[in-house]
Amino acid sequence: MKAIIGVIGAGTMGAGIAQVAAQAGHKVVLTDTNPDQLLRAEEQIKSSIEKLVHKGKLTAQLGQDAINNLRFSTQLSEHSEAGLVIEAIIENLTVKHQVFEQLEQVVSQDCILASNTSSLSIASIGACLQNATRFMGIHFFNPATLMPLVEVIPGVATSIEHTQHIEALISGWNKTVVVCKDTPGFIVNRVARPFYGEALRIYEEGLADFATIDWAMTHIGGFKMGPFTLMDYIGNDINYTVTETVFAAFYYDPRFKPSFTQKRHMEAGFLGRKSGRGFYDYKEGSMLATPHENQALGQQIFERILVLLINEAADAVFMQVASPRAVDLAMTKGVNYPKGLLAWADELGASWVLERLELLFAEYGEDRYRPNPLLRRIAREQSKFIL
Ligand code: NAI
Repeated sequence: MKAIIGVIGAGTMGAGIAQVAAQAGHKVVLTDTNPDQLLRAEEQIKSSIEKLVHKGKLTAQLGQDAINNLRFSTQLSEHSEAGLVIEAIIENLTVKHQVFEQLEQVVSQDCILASNTSSLSIASIGACLQNATRFMGIHFFNPATLMPLVEVIPGVATSIEHTQHIEALISGWNKTVVVCKDTPGFIVNRVARPFYGEALRIYEEGLADFATIDWAMTHIGGFKMGPFTLMDYIGNDINYTVTETVFAAFYYDPRFKPSFTQKRHMEAGFLGRKSGRGFYDYKEGSMLATPHENQALGQQIFERILVLLINEAADAVFMQVASPRAVDLAMTKGVNYPKGLLAWADELGASWVLERLELLFAEYGEDRYRPNPLLRRIAREQSKFIL
């Protein structure tokens, strides 16, 4: 029999995670302290399942089974039968501790506990538990029903058996699972930083405007969305906060330095699509920004952002955050990059990437451009990241 899955927090992420588990055939209990939020989540899940059935992606029977699998409650004690409980409440360590302390009194000894946190460390959340060997991060991406990637993050106290169990379980939910170390930003939110940060820097230096940088990354680089379109989509408040959190968590490493341009947009209320204006204007009748389609400039922009992304991917491998394959899977399945960054480096040649980084480092003398030692080694040995 499949384990009962508990999800705490019926907001954006919790509702999506509950739906994924219910569609995978588990009985699911979704709890939230706010009854209105539970009603909203129930409606949202039902309408999402109905759409899947309508589109032929799910049979009517499986859709009905998934709905029947779900139970909604305001009581944490409803998780007493669960084999796994995933917490997806507000990103606040004190509140998360309160919930986990209570939860540990309710669940069985062998129930695995997890947090969907994006920015808190797994070690810090698990510290409140009497048995932290059964606690880990299970990080879904938004929207959880559509994004295939799940990062599984064991903390320093987590047992290997529990990690392996969860890796196998979530892989059975039609998800791509990557295991990574408990370090700031895990894989995706760390490795993706230069996509935004270097684009903003190029703009701030006056090399190109938003539309031209976006054009370079989509038309020359093959990315689905340019950095400014994507920041507007995510929301400048959210994207800026992630950058600031990662920057602070890395002891203010200049590689992750946030941008004044993005901060000013956020302060002005130019949050992106959701506020009608971000880097671009989304109001009815507003003019579309047109790029300067200069091939040489576009190529320069694309290469500069790409080599910084590859350098960050190499650093994640160098610092044992995850394997090269896991890093590439994370970036293709978590943020839809057209290719895995390390496979891309192998294709271009590590020396080609290193040469460009060294030119940037020589020009600027800034640490954000320092080439990673693993990249240097692979270039020197004429080897590859993915063997
Ligand atoms: P949200 O604000 O949409 O939902 C949070 C829910 O938790 C609310 O329904 C609230 O009523 C409930 N809640 C608050 N305190 C509670 C408590 N003590 N007990 C039970 N329920 C409580 O938040 P969202 O965006 O779903 O984020 C949840 C978690 O997932 C956070 O840790 C966040 O960092 C993480 N996350 C968010 C992503 C996103 O794109 N929104 C992506 C990946 C992770």
